[in-house]
Amino acid sequence: MRAIAVGAFRADPALVEMPKPEPEAGEVRVRIEYAALNPSDWQAAQGSPDDGPAPRVFPMVIGVDFAGRVDMIGGGENRFRVGDHVFGRVARPNAAGGGTYCDYVSVPQDSAITVVPPGLPLRAAAALPSAGMTAAQILETAVFRGHESLLVIGAAGGVGSYLTQLASARDIRVIAAVRGDEHRRMTELGAAVTIDITDRPLEAAVQESCPDGVDALVDLASTTPDSFAAHAALVRPGGIALTTRGVAAGAALPTDVTGIDFRLEPTPVLLDVLAAGAAEGVLRVPVDIELPLEKAPQALDRNRTGGARGKTVIVL
Ligand SMILES: NC(=O)c1ccc[n+]([C@@H]2O[C@H](COP(=O)([O-])OP(=O)(O)OC[C@H]3O[C@@H](n4cnc5c(N)ncnc54)[C@H](OP(=O)(O)O)[C@@H]3O)[C@@H](O)[C@H]2O)c1
Repeated sequence: MRAIAVGAFRADPALVEMPKPEPEAGEVRVRIEYAALNPSDWQAAQGSPDDGPAPRVFPMVIGVDFAGRVDMIGGGENRFRVGDHVFGRVARPNAAGGGTYCDYVSVPQDSAITVVPPGLPLRAAAALPSAGMTAAQILETAVFRGHESLLVIGAAGGVGSYLTQLASARDIRVIAAVRGDEHRRMTELGAAVTIDITDRPLEAAVQESCPDGVDALVDLASTTPDSFAAHAALVRPGGIALTTRGVAAGAALPTDVTGIDFRLEPTPVLLDVLAAGAAEGVLRVPVDIELPLEKAPQALDRNRTGGARGKTVIVL
């Protein structure tokens, strides 16, 4: 089968031929039709993912999100059938099956994989798992009540696009911090305020719309504890500052602000909830770029340098 893989950490991802994985007992093999790009894909290839340790089996196939059709069942009982349209996220480390930028992946039936509901295209399903589950689980973790204010740094990317929609649907007032003129896009997704931080200082803009500080911060962008702490200074006393980038532990936060280093725990139930919302049209799946497998290495390079708007989907 075709795969985009690296032969070692920090090597350039390249198109290679690999054997098809054989499903073991309790697994299903999926003929992948779409994969979606996440920053954790190039981070894993570098050996430093935000969401946990990278696998150490090479060649390492890139990618975690997938949608496709079950084409073989391993031994034993299984809740799936050959031909089922499914989508999900492979666990890491995943020494046996590898990643998802490839034609086939073997996945344990009890992992984060579920059936695609009627009305949801596979292409959209592929763009849901990592970013959608992260957004949904952030809202569970931070325990928001309605009418609270939420500052999202990096709101125009995959996680931010879902988080803005899910939070505003709960009557949370989303203040979206982005780089560039994304006012219209973020307003359509449900943001109450959009701040272009290339146009005006973040601090002044946040203070203008929330003079007492925001109730919560979700920082999807800061890569250093200092930068995260500077954003957390915009949170009101008693509020929450959450990062997806593992920089809360070392940050000097205001004493009365709770810092959270978020780590996604994928579940099939979360996938079902997101898929139902997307199938009903309540949750928009913001696919920005669609490209063939052989262009995936360039897409990974592009994502590393920033500028993501919604999701990039890879067609197998
Ligand atoms: N811990 C976990 O379990 C977990 C789970 C999911 C994601 N993550 C991590 O969370 C981060 C976001 O994920 P994602 O899927 O949303 O990534 P993404 O789709 O690549 O989007 C990132 C967004 O952040 C923007 N950005 C970067 N620096 C910024 C800044 N200083 N100010 C404002 N916006 C900025 C980017 O656009 P511009 O470059 O144009 O500003 C882009 O729109 C990634 O690092 C990912 O690895 C962690």
